[in-house]
Amino acid sequence: MVLSVTHLLTLSSLTLSALAGSYKLLKDIQGHDFLEESVFSFEAIPDPTQGRVNYVSRSVAEGLNLTFASKDTFILRADARSVLSSSGPGRKSVRLKSVQDYKQHVAVFDIRHMPVGCGTWPAVWEVGDNWPNNGEIDILEGVNDRGPNAATLHTSAGCTAPKGRPGQTGEQVQENCDAKVNGNVGCPVKMSDSKSYGPEFNAAGGGCAKVPAAVKNGAKNVDPSTWGTPQAYFPSTSCNLNKHFGPQNIIINLTFCGTWAGNVFSSVPSCKEKGSCVNYVNQNPHAFEDAFFDFAAIRTYVPGAPAAVPPQDTPDTTKTVETTSASTSTSTTDATATAETTPTANTTTADTTPTAGTTAATDTSAETTTKGTPAAETTTNVAATTKTAAATTAIPLT
Ligand SMILES: *[C@@H]1O[C@H](CO)[C@@H](O)[C@H](O)[C@H]1NC(C)=O
Ligand SMILES: *[C@@H]1O[C@H](CO)[C@@H](O)[C@H](O)[C@H]1NC(C)=O
Ligand SMILES: *[C@@H]1O[C@H](CO)[C@@H](O)[C@H](O)[C@H]1NC(C)=O
Repeated sequence: MVLSVTHLLTLSSLTLSALAGSYKLLKDIQGHDFLEESVFSFEAIPDPTQGRVNYVSRSVAEGLNLTFASKDTFILRADARSVLSSSGPGRKSVRLKSVQDYKQHVAVFDIRHMPVGCGTWPAVWEVGDNWPNNGEIDILEGVNDRGPNAATLHTSAGCTAPKGRPGQTGEQVQENCDAKVNGNVGCPVKMSDSKSYGPEFNAAGGGCAKVPAAVKNGAKNVDPSTWGTPQAYFPSTSCNLNKHFGPQNIIINLTFCGTWAGNVFSSVPSCKEKGSCVNYVNQNPHAFEDAFFDFAAIRTYVPGAPAAVPPQDTPDTTKTVETTSASTSTSTTDATATAETTPTANTTTADTTPTAGTTAATDTSAETTTKGTPAAETTTNVAATTKTAAATTAIPLT
């Protein structure tokens, strides 16, 4: 592992058939795209994990600058100004859910900074409807600044991830992915790199790892089988991924305390000295100034070969070739990909904006439901790439 870097790249691929192969870009989400209603919905819901949080609506978040976009940056953070009354709501924060859902796919999360601070519990993850029947894939998650990251599956009964299996560099913790077992610990793979989470992740500017430069730079096509051994790899051998995983929505959330961060707060020496987690969160807004995500991009890919660019599609000489081809391939892939992989989402095509894979998304599913993915995960973190079946990968970039 080479370290270094400027960004962390977290990859998640849910590949239900074979792992190898070519994936084409479906969505390239950067900057202002994050705030498009066709891309993410704001889930102003009660925290299913009893966190000391108050998830706010889009208008409140934008009004308080808890979400902020510029051309190449998207910030998502918690309120770091208000002292809270112990009898009132929790600290204002944001939970986003992607409008698009994905079956077989690769997701690249290019993250410059992740939330840190005692009491924080940030997560980047994916979940299907009717939890846990359509599965949950945790890609980047942890609490109280403690790394490393862990990549975890949470499923219905009958899915396991045996220890000692080949194909991954991380360490399998609990084997049973069944959410009903052992307080929903799931089957975490603890990453081997401490820079995969928290302050170390941020200090490295996002992490460390090797991934082809083209992936980091927004390649239109990727092939995860060329990326080397993933940190976490969940093959279909002892878990029928087709049965346990349905289309997944991406979720980004940041909560405080609750059933994981709160429960282990006092076991972290640097946090324990701060007293109770909830009191600390209530009374110390400035302790959360670094409790923010800074995303350079999220890119999603679905199976498919590189799109050919018909020569007659480049008549406009004022555009660069690159722009033209991007635009062409985006709309093309959207049309096909949607049809083949996301039966439920009905996104429509006709998107001509090259960078924002937004597509019009006739979104039907903006109305989100909380799937109460409970709490308790175990270890933190990781990044791993998953190959075949459902896997997550986090790869910091060089
Ligand atoms: C945040 O994400 C984690 C992902 O594992 C999930 O378990 C938890 O319920 C989420 N919490 C909130 C409040 O959204
Ligand atoms: C909102 O946040 C961004 C990013 O941190 C910052 O650059 C900007 O100045 C903030 N805007 C206001 C009005 O505070
Ligand atoms: C998608 O669009 C088709 C055609 O308009 C419609 O029949 C179908 O019900 C839509 N599906 C969803 C999930 O909205």
